[in-house]
Amino acid sequence: MTIKQIDDTYVAHTYARTDLALVRGRGAEAWDDKGKRYIDLGAGIAVSTFGYSDEAWVKAVAEQAATLSHTSNLYYSEPCARLAEMLCQRTGMRRVFFSNSGAEANECIIKAARLYASRKYGDGARPGIITLTSSFHGRTLATLSATGQDAFHHDFTPFPGGFYYADPTVPGDLTRVASENPVCAVLVEPVQGEGGVRVLPEAFLRELREVTEKLDLLLLVDEVQTGNGRTGSLYAYTQLGLSPDAVSTAKGLAGGLPLGATMLGERLADVFTPGTHGSTFGGNPIAAAGALSILSRIDEELLSGVRERSAYILSELSGAKGVRSISGMGLMLGIESERPAAEVLAACREKGVIVLTAKTKVRLLPPLSIPMPLLREAIAALKEALADF
Ligand SMILES: Cc1ncc(COP(=O)(O)O)c(C=O)c1O
Repeated sequence: MTIKQIDDTYVAHTYARTDLALVRGRGAEAWDDKGKRYIDLGAGIAVSTFGYSDEAWVKAVAEQAATLSHTSNLYYSEPCARLAEMLCQRTGMRRVFFSNSGAEANECIIKAARLYASRKYGDGARPGIITLTSSFHGRTLATLSATGQDAFHHDFTPFPGGFYYADPTVPGDLTRVASENPVCAVLVEPVQGEGGVRVLPEAFLRELREVTEKLDLLLLVDEVQTGNGRTGSLYAYTQLGLSPDAVSTAKGLAGGLPLGATMLGERLADVFTPGTHGSTFGGNPIAAAGALSILSRIDEELLSGVRERSAYILSELSGAKGVRSISGMGLMLGIESERPAAEVLAACREKGVIVLTAKTKVRLLPPLSIPMPLLREAIAALKEALADF
């Protein structure tokens, strides 16, 4: 049987997979089971920060695997401690909880907010969390409930309650939702990724800063997709003038190993006490060593490279044939195309370029270090695919 046939037979059918089996990769390039080469502008959905099997990352991960593989959280281990230290030193956050995915990082942010509210106002007095329409926060029951899209809110009922949705495109909606409900926090993505690469409007950001301050609400930022250099700064909230109480991240943090992190600021730093939260694998030495290798190389040089590559893509695609508009920040870009996004994706694949979609848009999330010659080649192919409608 082919890889596809075995997978179709034995793996649960939760994914509408593309008919493509990748077997090998290096940097921004990958090869399929027939030997065809692709330039990847998707990076495993914003995960492979330095591309496939990046040399320094492989070395760090392999050395850690050979030295000390897994300890559990019953004991101290250096990679976990050093990674938390690096995240706090680079963000000004105070403590970090490690988990294994974006959804888990958000479960933790939700629990941290509720625990804080329970201690401050009494258990159940102000447990509510406002999230935004078109948001995406994960696939666990609580994070599905937090996700502000009706399409996710059926078939798995009952969902955990206490989530209220505000529309960031409607002035005053956040203020209304915040004043009508027993809420303690607002959770936002700086750029809504799965919701269609939508940057939060400036007027909404102003309202968000005002409302959280005036009503003493916690500001929680989901940087699962936008984090770790993706938008041209280490975390996107710094570009939006936000001062979060907690930040969740995952995807690109460990460059291809499962790792979620929930960074807790001053108000939430000491909210968790032993037994209030935990994870068997969270902060695992191998994943943490991978993340240390990634995070230590997300420096100003890399970030300015992200901004340059972003500017190059925008200059090539703005006004190009078949392009209606482009949204996003840094190397997280969405293209509203004349041709249906799925068709553009298929045409790109034919030409040996991997792109993604998000809602109606073609989505680009290339490795942050993609070499310019490869980027030029891929964007030329994408332009052809976009123009052919
Ligand atoms: C903003 C955001 N939050 C949470 C998640 C969920 O992350 P994971 O799939 O690692 O659970 C995603 C995944 O796409 C995301 O984009």
